[in-house]
Amino acid sequence: MPITPHELIANLGDLPPLPKVATQVLRLAMDPAATAGDFHQVIAMDQALASQVLRISNSTAFGMMREVTTLTQAITTLGVSALKSVVIASSARNLYHRGAVGPQERLLWEHALVAAMASRAFAERLGLALAEEAFVGGLLHDIGKSVLGAKFPERYGPLLRLVHEEQGACLDLELEAFGFDHAMVGEALAIQWNLAPCLQAALRWHHEPHRAGRDHRRLAAVVALANHLALEQKVGLGDPSRLEDASRQAMDILTLDSGALASLKADIRTTLERDQTMIAEF
Ligand SMILES: [Fe+2]
Ligand SMILES: [Fe+2]
Repeated sequence: MPITPHELIANLGDLPPLPKVATQVLRLAMDPAATAGDFHQVIAMDQALASQVLRISNSTAFGMMREVTTLTQAITTLGVSALKSVVIASSARNLYHRGAVGPQERLLWEHALVAAMASRAFAERLGLALAEEAFVGGLLHDIGKSVLGAKFPERYGPLLRLVHEEQGACLDLELEAFGFDHAMVGEALAIQWNLAPCLQAALRWHHEPHRAGRDHRRLAAVVALANHLALEQKVGLGDPSRLEDASRQAMDILTLDSGALASLKADIRTTLERDQTMIAEF
């Protein structure tokens, strides 16, 4: 019998709360009517976040001719869509850095960021109207790992090392060690944080997208493909060949043949290279 999210929380103890700013930003990100002014109001409450937004607006990725010095300027420069991504990424960064898993922590974070950018790119290129959800889903898909790292540093650090050295499948090792895996922890967290049901499903099923509910299957599939692509790009922990089955399920859900997927991936790799600076900025 698989463990339920409630039993999981009973086993794990308290889960980290979502920071207030992140909650508001996530809500704004899901709201198509959200304006630059709404974001300004939220971002201005968090000094660290505000300076990160400024730093990113001035990064070479945006090729600005003049230095951006105020938050208002930064918001207009980035545009609401890029701004959402920067702010969500910045909030998620703090969540990922909460785990105490040492050198793997940076790799987990870069993996999350690349998966987020790739998820959004997949959603856009496939003409799915869920680009923003895809970005957030990609960004948070492995957040369960950071929770496990924070809760069980002595056991989870060495486990991740094994995964990194490609000596085992992450989910199997987790199930063996804890009786649950990072996808289940991610779902429990998403429920506690009141994230949209499609995001709960994406976190839960990013390794088995065909098991997601019918309405959420495409988002889970996009995140699964992005997760695989990130590992193929050597950003993250583990052997990409272990994600082939997840990718096959995703192709089935999105009705992609291997030729179509290959050209889509080539395209997205180019986008990711262009966005490298954004990764470096974090
Ligand atoms: Fe995962
Ligand atoms: Fe992943």
